[in-house]
Amino acid sequence: MKIQAGHKQKISSNGNLLKPNTKTDSLKSNGVLKKTVWEYSKSIEDSKHIKLKSEYDLFIGGKWIKTKKYFETINPSNEEVIAKVAYASNEDVNKAVNAAEKAYDKVWSKISAKERGKYIFRIARILQEKAREFAVIESMDGGKPIKESKSVDIPLALAHFFYYAGWADKLELAFPGRKVSPIGVAGQIIPWNFPLLMAAWKIAPALACGNTVVIKSAETTPLTLYKLAEVIEEAELPEGVVNIISGDGATGAAIVNHPKTKKIAFTGSTEVGKLIMKQTAGTDKKLTLELGGKAANIIFEDAPIDAAIEGIINGIYFNQGHVCCAGSRLLVQESIKDIVIKKLRYRLKSLRVGDPLDKNTDVGSINSIMQLDRIKELVKSGINEGAKIYQSECSLPQRGYWFRPTFFSDVAQSHRIANEEIFGPVLSILTFRTPAEAIEKANNTFYGLSAGVWTDKGSKIFKTLSKLRAGVIWSNTFNKFNPASPFGGYKESGFGREGGRHGLEAYVK
Ligand code: NAI
Ligand code: MG
Repeated sequence: MKIQAGHKQKISSNGNLLKPNTKTDSLKSNGVLKKTVWEYSKSIEDSKHIKLKSEYDLFIGGKWIKTKKYFETINPSNEEVIAKVAYASNEDVNKAVNAAEKAYDKVWSKISAKERGKYIFRIARILQEKAREFAVIESMDGGKPIKESKSVDIPLALAHFFYYAGWADKLELAFPGRKVSPIGVAGQIIPWNFPLLMAAWKIAPALACGNTVVIKSAETTPLTLYKLAEVIEEAELPEGVVNIISGDGATGAAIVNHPKTKKIAFTGSTEVGKLIMKQTAGTDKKLTLELGGKAANIIFEDAPIDAAIEGIINGIYFNQGHVCCAGSRLLVQESIKDIVIKKLRYRLKSLRVGDPLDKNTDVGSINSIMQLDRIKELVKSGINEGAKIYQSECSLPQRGYWFRPTFFSDVAQSHRIANEEIFGPVLSILTFRTPAEAIEKANNTFYGLSAGVWTDKGSKIFKTLSKLRAGVIWSNTFNKFNPASPFGGYKESGFGREGGRHGLEAYVK
């Protein structure tokens, strides 16, 4: 552990001036307090055991298929190329959909539900064995801190496979009084913020209900999906039941528009969601959309403040704020605004930003240069429109895409940063005086995906959440997920639910 002297620490967690600690601090000759800062030693996760190919072909019909074009996926924390992956053309999408249709007709719709469950259990168990490898690759390809990929992304992803494996032969219990049947080929398009987890959310219920799948990864994070393809091979799933491809928006559009995809599941931007809705209108395709959010995290004056501070930090800085349900709009009761802001400033100082593979890292790198530009543009608008910015003073690595944990106070309802999804480590703080005002402000958004309520009073929680128009509401916590609980939004956050028994509904008719 290295000791670095000379850093001036002025305030403590309650906002008071720090007194010198005679054991570790000293006074300089000019009387200024020299505070000893204990720096963390690096603790880099080992990546030697990771098996990655230099090039990934498309996984179609149980085989690795070459194509004409390949593109690079990089590590956003150092801009180094990790591997090349296939770019699926319209022709490739057609091959994948046909393989999925053949597998559906010939095998998957014919085998027993118990058999289906067996295969999904196998996927879950193999994933569990390889959890560490998956966590490292997820962090390398997307920039998220290893402690998050290890404790959230991968365990939750495999828990979804376990959970839906259990439902496969119990569908009559999930839909009492209804005789349900699968839909056919499901086309699934996922984003870059939680690649493997989003794939699990989509693939597991689809298979449990008896559908086959064509899934496309996002441009910047294709690797864990191809590793999942290897797991699917190892689990000896009948060929063509799960087809995994990579590409861009045009590839996604080809999946949406293919006449043989009978169900489309999309997670991503509201803009593309609207486009997909138009394209599928008038067809017999079933559709679920999980889009953006601008969640209100409401802190009442009677809340346990230190716990709420942790909830605010977790709500917005988890996964660099690349989270559709992030608590990106903090609504704090006016009477406690000053203390909350003071404590937040203090807490931001201890957030460690840096190498995603360092186990000490709290905030990793921004996923791509495009996303970094979007964040910068919106932050600039916040400054120009008159909000007050505070940023952590941490040093940032030379290479890669980085953005300091940031919050804005004095945010007005009309500011862009109060309305638009920033999808980065940037919090907008607004205030309210009465519970009614909190609810009105919280609901004053185009979105309706999630919300948080912090108060000491149970009755206040229930009263508030019954009036909030959001699909998921956390009380005295934030960003907690479980395969058994449904997730989804209202308004421009989309429709349909993923997870839980509700998540099966999208995959049956
Ligand atoms: P995006 O919506 O363009 O990309 C998400 C996925 O959709 C990717 O796999 C992409 O290839 C695919 N896609 C793009 N155009 C398509 C089309 N016309 N038809 C079918 N599939 C298509 O999101 P992008 O550009 O990566 O991020 C832009 C913003 O969207 C972010 O700044 C963030 O605000 C929001 N976003 C929200 C997410 C969420 O979880 N709700 C996830 C990703 C982005
Ligand atoms: Mg990448």
